[in-house]
Amino acid sequence: MKMNPFYFVVQRSSHILFSFIFLCFLFSSISPSFGYDPLDPYGNITLKWDLLTSDTASNYVRVSMLNFQKYRHIEQPGWKLGWDWKGDEAIWNMLGAEATEQGNCSRFKGGQLPHCCERTPSIVDLLPGTPYNMQTTNCCKGGVLSSMIQDPSKYGSVFEMTVSSATKAGFNMPENFTIGVQGYTCGDAVPVAPSKYSLDGRRWTQALGTWNVTCMYSQFLASTTPKCCVSLSAFYNSTIVPCPKCSCSCQGLPGAKCLNSGETPSLLREIKDKNREPPSLVRCSEHMCPIWIHWHVKQSYTSYWRVKITVHNQNIVKNYSEWNLVALHPNLKSVVQVFSFNYEPLSQYEFINDTGMFWGIKFYNDMLLQEGAGGNVQTEMLLQKDPGMFTFREGWGFPRRILFNGDECVMPPPDQYPRLPNIGQHDAKFSIVAIFFSLLLMMLCA
Ligand SMILES: *[C@@H]1O[C@H](CO)[C@@H](O)[C@H](O)[C@H]1NC(C)=O
Ligand SMILES: *[C@@H]1O[C@H](CO)[C@@H](O)[C@H](O)[C@H]1NC(C)=O
Ligand SMILES: *[C@@H]1O[C@H](CO)[C@@H](O)[C@H](O)[C@H]1NC(C)=O
Ligand SMILES: *[C@@H]1O[C@H](CO)[C@@H](O)[C@H](O)[C@H]1NC(C)=O
Ligand SMILES: *[C@@H]1O[C@H](CO)[C@@H](O)[C@H](O)[C@H]1NC(C)=O
Ligand SMILES: *[C@@H]1O[C@H](CO)[C@@H](O)[C@H](O)[C@H]1NC(C)=O
Ligand SMILES: *[C@@H]1O[C@H](CO)[C@@H](O)[C@H](O)[C@H]1NC(C)=O
Repeated sequence: MKMNPFYFVVQRSSHILFSFIFLCFLFSSISPSFGYDPLDPYGNITLKWDLLTSDTASNYVRVSMLNFQKYRHIEQPGWKLGWDWKGDEAIWNMLGAEATEQGNCSRFKGGQLPHCCERTPSIVDLLPGTPYNMQTTNCCKGGVLSSMIQDPSKYGSVFEMTVSSATKAGFNMPENFTIGVQGYTCGDAVPVAPSKYSLDGRRWTQALGTWNVTCMYSQFLASTTPKCCVSLSAFYNSTIVPCPKCSCSCQGLPGAKCLNSGETPSLLREIKDKNREPPSLVRCSEHMCPIWIHWHVKQSYTSYWRVKITVHNQNIVKNYSEWNLVALHPNLKSVVQVFSFNYEPLSQYEFINDTGMFWGIKFYNDMLLQEGAGGNVQTEMLLQKDPGMFTFREGWGFPRRILFNGDECVMPPPDQYPRLPNIGQHDAKFSIVAIFFSLLLMMLCA
């Protein structure tokens, strides 16, 4: 059988064309646009301040903190809210949270002193198990906020406080908000329509005033070094493509600490401060990442294929509770079944639907334990081969992006992906057409 050479060229270049459209898409989706995440364009943490009562002596305020992010969560040690009072306000009382410092209350004479007199208070959530008389509904989770998709019942925190100023009547909204988690910046308070409350759904009362403060995440601000990397393998090729060397750090660099296998950390006991994020201490590897994800194309059936994803914790001093993983792959629109993880598509655009979020099953594998024998979680998923799209060629079976707990993971370079054996030889015409298309597309991309 003889093949029409032109036909061959066209077919091959359409593959290249696809790869380039794809790269275009990839570049545009990871361009470092400040604070904008195409996978979750409206994602934000909103602080809502409701002024419930106000008289000459004091104001009663309810502050709600809601995590409107699809896949980013606030993990331990939790949020730590801060702001600047514009006057000489003091917090007399607080339910559902507490100020870390009382501050200088010497300007108040008499018996009872305020809860906090600082101009820039620092507020933390109470721990689970707080006595009922100090709680509000939806408080006391130790500052941990789940993502909207992962656990909609735990994406908010609420606390209440009595505020008064000695020199000014009424309530003056503070400014310069921070939530104490790396990578988030908060905007100004904006007055919005007052919140309404009802006990029975028949009669509604409303807040005297409501303000929203929006806080956004930017990975660029959070940290310049990646926290995870991806390795790849496939049943059709015995090569395992490892995480790129120095993905997260390099052995031997100043400040890059790691432990060789067999060594146990001697400083483990010293770093048990619950209020602080434990420093990362990883098992020595070429990539030096605390999280290493392996994507294995495991099997091919007539109309399905199977992928196995393993998440390894390489951090010796950290358990990741309520971890999550986001993957981009064009075939995720045809997921048939995901075993031992929860799965939910994150459709960014209705017509693409190529992104999905995976997370652990409660009490089974929602906690990714520290490095060691149990320090990994894994899933297998079954995908339908979409006719006209599915192929094992050109690394199509591998993910385009992986994020762990909202942070981008380092992928091996595409030209190193495990290849199908005996790919057809490239001929000269093919290369010319390919180069032409590449240039064209690069121009379109730019
Ligand atoms: C914050 O998220 C909510 C819920 O998705 C959305 O309604 C709101 O518009 C977002 N705010 C901003 C400023 O993006
Ligand atoms: C203000 O925040 C609340 C949630 O706390 C949200 O439901 C509401 O849509 C926000 N309003 C505006 C105008 O962003
Ligand atoms: C808020 O921050 C700005 C800039 O740091 C500062 O000039 C201003 O005084 C702060 N506001 C208050 C009320 O302290
Ligand atoms: C505490 O505040 C008072 C005035 O409110 C001031 O005179 C005093 O110096 C402050 N003390 C300290 C230690 O800052
Ligand atoms: C991680 O969890 C295991 C089991 O619950 C516990 O034994 C271990 O101390 C935890 N490690 C850290 C660093 O919290
Ligand atoms: C995306 O795919 C999932 C199946 O994985 C499906 O349930 C969902 O409806 C799809 N969404 C869109 C917008 O096509
Ligand atoms: C397996 O993939 C590697 C990496 O792309 C490639 O160098 C190698 O030739 C492939 N092996 C076979 C048998 O094709």
